[in-house]
Amino acid sequence: MEDEISPESRDLGRALCIITGASKGFGRTLAFQLSCLLKPRSVLMLVARTTEQLNQVKEDIITLYGGQNQLEVRCVQADLEKKDGVEKMVQAAKETSVSDMDHLLLINNAGALDFVIALQKKASLGDVSRFALTFTDPAEVNRYLSLNVSGALSLTAGVLQAFPRRLGLRRSVVNISSLCALKPFPSWVLYCTGKAARDMMFRVLAAEEPDVRVLSYAPGPLDTDMQLQARRSSGDLQLRRSFCSMFSEGQLISCEESGAKLIKLLLDDDFLSGAHLDFYEL
Ligand SMILES: NC(=O)c1ccc[n+]([C@@H]2O[C@H](COP(=O)([O-])OP(=O)(O)OC[C@H]3O[C@@H](n4cnc5c(N)ncnc54)[C@H](OP(=O)(O)O)[C@@H]3O)[C@@H](O)[C@H]2O)c1
Repeated sequence: MEDEISPESRDLGRALCIITGASKGFGRTLAFQLSCLLKPRSVLMLVARTTEQLNQVKEDIITLYGGQNQLEVRCVQADLEKKDGVEKMVQAAKETSVSDMDHLLLINNAGALDFVIALQKKASLGDVSRFALTFTDPAEVNRYLSLNVSGALSLTAGVLQAFPRRLGLRRSVVNISSLCALKPFPSWVLYCTGKAARDMMFRVLAAEEPDVRVLSYAPGPLDTDMQLQARRSSGDLQLRRSFCSMFSEGQLISCEESGAKLIKLLLDDDFLSGAHLDFYEL
């Protein structure tokens, strides 16, 4: 891999760039980092459920760049756990035209922990220990997998169909993965299962669609709301303690630092399509 890349190639082209889960956390940071690497007249599409937060991200990006980068930022409020949310997002992508578009970049970042979903479903839920043996309700399992697995696949399929292969169009798909795709974490059965399934899903996509650049990126332990939930609510005591000590010892990674590594991978564009790459290995 070459360390130096000529300055003129240090952008991601005139792109439609879609980031799911862009209202906060890692997705929000990626929105900022990517917005200055897209050529003028590109479109950045930010997707999540919370309209106010999405609009705030949009406003902050516009304020930061003062319109100098001629970037159109579009917010799409959609619940990607649901079929109509996925359809709404794909429709919004179809309706977006970027003249002379040379790059379609989709970042599948939206995700949630299983106990967060359970809490949303039943706010009064007291004990949220999520050991495998507590998942006796298939509907609950399906609900979790519908955002983290089915939603990611159907969204990716819909977007790739909307922008089929054509000469001069680079198509890149990023799956925000995790160490949990490879390693079992007690009390995180659905999260680990979902991340493992997603990695395989994207490997199959890479095998089927050789022109699509597919990357599963594990960003490392990030200082976000998801980590806060992990520290507070993980069912396994040892795991909870290890998250707490990572936090207190300053071992969490900032979204900016991890995002910068992902962006370098995208700019260099020489990863093996379908690969799982981890922050710590780069
Ligand atoms: N934090 C970590 O330590 C860590 C480590 C490894 C991997 N990751 C992965 O990194 C990604 C980002 O995590 P994060 O830490 O930034 O999490 P976060 O701060 O909790 O943000 C999650 C994002 O996903 C969106 N989202 C959640 N459910 C959604 C739904 N049903 N439909 C649409 N959007 C939805 C949220 O927006 P709304 O609530 O507005 O919908 C939010 O923008 C996830 O895939 C996570 O698994 C995180």
